[in-house]
Amino acid sequence: MSQTVVITGAAGKVGRLLRHRLARPDRRLRLMDIVPPEPVAPGEDAEVFTGSVTDLPALESLVAGADAVIHLGGQSRESNMADVLENNAHGTYCLFEAVRRAGVPRVIFASSNHAAGFLDRVDAPADGFPADAAGRPDTLYGWSKVAGEAMASLYADRYGIDVLCPRIGMCMPEPIDVRSLALWLSQDDAIRMFEALLAVESPGFRHLWGISRNTRRFMSLAEGEALGYIAKDDSEAYADGVIQGKPTPDYEHDLVLRRIGGQWCDVPLGEYY
Ligand SMILES: NC(=O)c1ccc[n+]([C@@H]2O[C@H](COP(=O)([O-])OP(=O)(O)OC[C@H]3O[C@@H](n4cnc5c(N)ncnc54)[C@H](O)[C@@H]3O)[C@@H](O)[C@H]2O)c1
Repeated sequence: MSQTVVITGAAGKVGRLLRHRLARPDRRLRLMDIVPPEPVAPGEDAEVFTGSVTDLPALESLVAGADAVIHLGGQSRESNMADVLENNAHGTYCLFEAVRRAGVPRVIFASSNHAAGFLDRVDAPADGFPADAAGRPDTLYGWSKVAGEAMASLYADRYGIDVLCPRIGMCMPEPIDVRSLALWLSQDDAIRMFEALLAVESPGFRHLWGISRNTRRFMSLAEGEALGYIAKDDSEAYADGVIQGKPTPDYEHDLVLRRIGGQWCDVPLGEYY
């Protein structure tokens, strides 16, 4: 039977990757963004919608009959409180309320490493920080992800909706700096992760870290593995190139490398970063 998956924020970086790589003969994608997504290509089993995640009636019809929603839409950087409240906090409420009204059984909420940005490598257990470590947001953006996770928990407990909250590290083709050697989520692993989260049976409400099998990670992969996400890629393959010409990474003293949120922990609150 064909599966229908809604993706909010489908015109963004992760959304475009998922549009391309989650396409399957037995899957229809409903793609929405406040920026018009690319038109449907010939042979593509998809529909595109332009709208805001803050428009509850529009969301309700968007998600009607869907098997799952992947919620990416919103502000993905630090910003002012009005922007963060409207697009992330209010938008995430509207998404869950639309999902409840329409009876959609599953949501994958794109949380972030910045929900726990102040966790410090020096305090990490041997297996890395657990994925459900209490929120330690580093920005207003990070706070909105903690708030989104709490909204997810509310709707999971009240209404029995399955909600997976990947705290995504840095999803990009290759690691770009020393910090990202710990947080990298390769594009192939991102697809493995989202496929696992769409497939796992009756997970309830769960957190996981959205990172690859990076040698320099200090976050646990166990919660993802329990959900069927088996990361395969390791940023170490890029380490020499990333570090070349730079001082030897100082994981004991350099707070950018020690804290999960890196330099975001020092950005003035509410300033676009
Ligand atoms: N890319 C990463 O490494 C990473 C890391 C951590 C978390 N995340 C989270 O994953 C999601 C996707 O990230 P991304 O890198 O693709 O970000 P992105 O900024 O490229 O994409 C976000 C999309 O959301 C859309 N959007 C903004 N406000 C909206 C609204 N009101 N209604 C509908 N759409 C709206 C934007 O137009 C954009 O296309 C975000 O929620 C982000 O916070 C991403």
